[in-house]
Amino acid sequence: MTRKAAAFGCHNIHDLREAARRFLPRGLFEFIDRGAEDELCLERDVAAFRRVRLLPRVLRDVSRADPAGELLGGPAAFPLAVAPTGGAGMVRHHGDLLLARAAAAAGVPFAISSASNMEVEQICRAGGRLWFQLYLWEDRSLSMAVVERARAAGCEALVVTADIPVSPNREYNRRNGFASPFRLGFGNAADILSHPRWFTAVMLRYLREGGMPAQANLPRPLAHAVTREAAPRARFRGDSLTWDEVARMRDGWPGRFVLKGLLRPDDAERAVALGVDGIVVSNHGGRSLDCAAATLEALPDVVAAVSGRAEVLVDSGVRRGSDIAKALALGARGVLAGRAPLYGLAAGGQAGVEYALDLLKEEFVRTMGLCGARDLSELDAGLLWRSPAEIPAGPS
Ligand SMILES: Cc1cc2nc3c(=O)[nH]c(=O)nc-3n(C[C@H](O)[C@H](O)[C@H](O)COP(=O)(O)O)c2cc1C
Repeated sequence: MTRKAAAFGCHNIHDLREAARRFLPRGLFEFIDRGAEDELCLERDVAAFRRVRLLPRVLRDVSRADPAGELLGGPAAFPLAVAPTGGAGMVRHHGDLLLARAAAAAGVPFAISSASNMEVEQICRAGGRLWFQLYLWEDRSLSMAVVERARAAGCEALVVTADIPVSPNREYNRRNGFASPFRLGFGNAADILSHPRWFTAVMLRYLREGGMPAQANLPRPLAHAVTREAAPRARFRGDSLTWDEVARMRDGWPGRFVLKGLLRPDDAERAVALGVDGIVVSNHGGRSLDCAAATLEALPDVVAAVSGRAEVLVDSGVRRGSDIAKALALGARGVLAGRAPLYGLAAGGQAGVEYALDLLKEEFVRTMGLCGARDLSELDAGLLWRSPAEIPAGPS
């Protein structure tokens, strides 16, 4: 780890974020880093993790603390999966594949985004445990064809994202020319040219190969470059998605089925009733509804509603290994991380993602040791410090 820290000059995810900021054009950095509107939800997510305090157990021989466990019926070296993130192919050349390879090397699952810039089959060649995340295109048959390809290529779980029914408001993307389609103009040309390392390592390679990265999972005539307007039937369109349609998808998918982007216990109940294997308590990393609750605020009620009938994962705001321990103490089976691996990807390609995952794992194992937890089951609710305001008043 020390050698790697020296190579990247980074000692934590915050340092990797700064390295990503230096490498990427500002518009692209903001595209991956920022939230929606006034970014209150993003702040709230991170603050909610920071607020949790633990009461460590001592003198418990933690010399062999074991961070390994199971997520969705398969092994995970520690309780984290790499979240689906569209746009990774703009961060690094073939970024989706680099993320997948790094996750495989780290022994954690990787969720392929349906908005990835490489075909699902190409990404699956990375090996490891792969899940496929689904957004729906206007022409539903296109989405179902991709789901079938993902299954054939070896994806074990289908993750349907529910929290972007309409396009969220991210004003900086429009200001920076990083909206969809991506437009090159006077404003961002200067931004791009002032980041020659990115331009050479990423954009020039695509241009030499004959074009810009594309929405690669659409069938060929529709797989438009990120600089082109999508054909109407190939636009992402989640506004008409309903529970009935999700139930049909559940019934048609033979593997594990996950609903991502729930915050409410009644929605979690409904998801369990239609037979999901997992729920991701998520607000899309603060990139969707800016006035949404922080995911850690929503988590305990969802965990209570699900009551062990499905796995509850949580994301949005994981920046430290200790955040994973906090999520488990609050009842989650594990976490997803989106931006942390992307910062690593920008900072150092596949090695950078591996480093980001190493850092999170090392911090998690250290937190286990410092809390007296020898395995994941010992990261329980008994570790949570409750503020005096939360403690019911006893008899006076
Ligand atoms: C650049 C970027 C692209 C994303 N693309 C997708 C996507 O294609 N599908 C999806 O379900 N979620 C997407 N997300 C949300 C992540 O899966 C995840 O919920 C979120 O990043 C978690 O918060 P964190 O970044 O604080 O870890 C994206 C997030 C980012 C930052």
